[in-house]
Amino acid sequence: MDFKTSIYLFLIIVISLSSFTTVQANTTGTLPPPRKLTPEQAKVASANYQKYCALCHGENREGHANDHAPSLKSKSLFESGVPHAILRPMSYGRKGTAMGGYLDEVGGPMTLDETWDLTYWLFEQAGVERLKLSTNPVLGDIKLGEKIYQKECSQCHGIQGEGVTAPALGNQSALAHNTDEFIRHAIINGRQNTPMVAFKDKLSSEEINSITAFLRSKALGWKEERTILKALPAPEEYVINKDGKDPNFTLKDGMYVSSKDLYDAMKNKKRMVLLDTRVTSVWQTAHLEGSIPFPYYADLDETVKGIPFDVQIVAYCSCPRAAADYTIKKLRAKGYTRTAVLWEGIFGWMHLGLPVMRGDIEGVKD
Ligand code: HEC
Ligand code: HEC
Repeated sequence: MDFKTSIYLFLIIVISLSSFTTVQANTTGTLPPPRKLTPEQAKVASANYQKYCALCHGENREGHANDHAPSLKSKSLFESGVPHAILRPMSYGRKGTAMGGYLDEVGGPMTLDETWDLTYWLFEQAGVERLKLSTNPVLGDIKLGEKIYQKECSQCHGIQGEGVTAPALGNQSALAHNTDEFIRHAIINGRQNTPMVAFKDKLSSEEINSITAFLRSKALGWKEERTILKALPAPEEYVINKDGKDPNFTLKDGMYVSSKDLYDAMKNKKRMVLLDTRVTSVWQTAHLEGSIPFPYYADLDETVKGIPFDVQIVAYCSCPRAAADYTIKKLRAKGYTRTAVLWEGIFGWMHLGLPVMRGDIEGVKD
């Protein structure tokens, strides 16, 4: 075999081998670990996690405790997403999903330092190395991507990417916050110990690139908007329609009131207290008229002051009931027996075409 033939043979072997190896993320090595938390910062971050996040993401960060909130311990998320794919949803939320924003600037309970510390605390808990992912767009055949998406992904992520049992991949805040390589990395590697399997052995790199390009094509150039914060209601405003009659609801399972019954009671000016049990930032964006922010993490002894025992209390959230159920159970234990939870949650209410009060917004400058 002469030199030329052996070079050809060598090339043929290399090319055929490379087409059989599995798809790899487009990484250029690893990033240095971020700043380490002091023991004091770690303690506060861990307590903040339990107070604010465990309700949906689970006591041990395993995810899926409520409303299909993703795992906050998977290797692939923390090697590809720190800081921004963690920090941004935590700070600003994912509009239209149960994930609200926790940063004080948007009306949430956490300071900027606390959101950064919690991001790094979650990273330290995950115990992985950060990969350096390219920020270039992933190119592919959008039509092909859509076809494979509908076949392989839509049963969990929804035909329109709206999320069924899995994150809403077509969500505009998610698309604004996540880079193409972050999305591709998740498809290639899956999310460990969750229903999201790795597709690296099931789909070719062309197919994975095409799905990524298809998901990116759903981004409408949406930008984070800032709500102009409203003053919170004073205790004397807690009871609505003070001179109205009692709504006399018939509760399903002794707990749940339907959107229709609640809306009728509001129109007929019945005496009630409406509790918005979500993170306070989302009360700022949209809430039921007359409701007061009463987040699931609030110190009840403080917040319940000013609410009489004899009034009908209705709590709601968006998950669609987890935070409201949790709060009402605590109120019942305190002797508030005239309590109920809105069955459909606020998104169900809005899907029925019922009205909400919306906050004013301003665009965020880059
Ligand atoms: C009321 C339930 C709920 C609470 C409480 C909650 N989350 Fe979420 N979170 C969700 C849901 C649901 C999603 C997925 C939304 C989607 O994209 O469809 C999510 C998504 C996320 C994501 C994006 C993860 C990914 O894989 O892209 C991060 C990060 C996150 N949450 C962090 C937090 C942190 C930190 C807290 C506490 C400060 C918190 N969440 C509190 C429900 C919640
Ligand atoms: C059996 C249900 C299921 C199928 C099928 C599925 N996924 Fe997922 N996917 C999930 C779940 C659940 C999560 C959240 C996992 C977690 O807890 O972190 C997820 C997470 C993701 C994420 C990460 C989102 C984020 O914000 O971090 C991406 C991207 C994704 N899936 C893309 C796809 C694509 C593309 C397909 C099809 C090729 C697909 N998935 C098929 C259930 C599924």
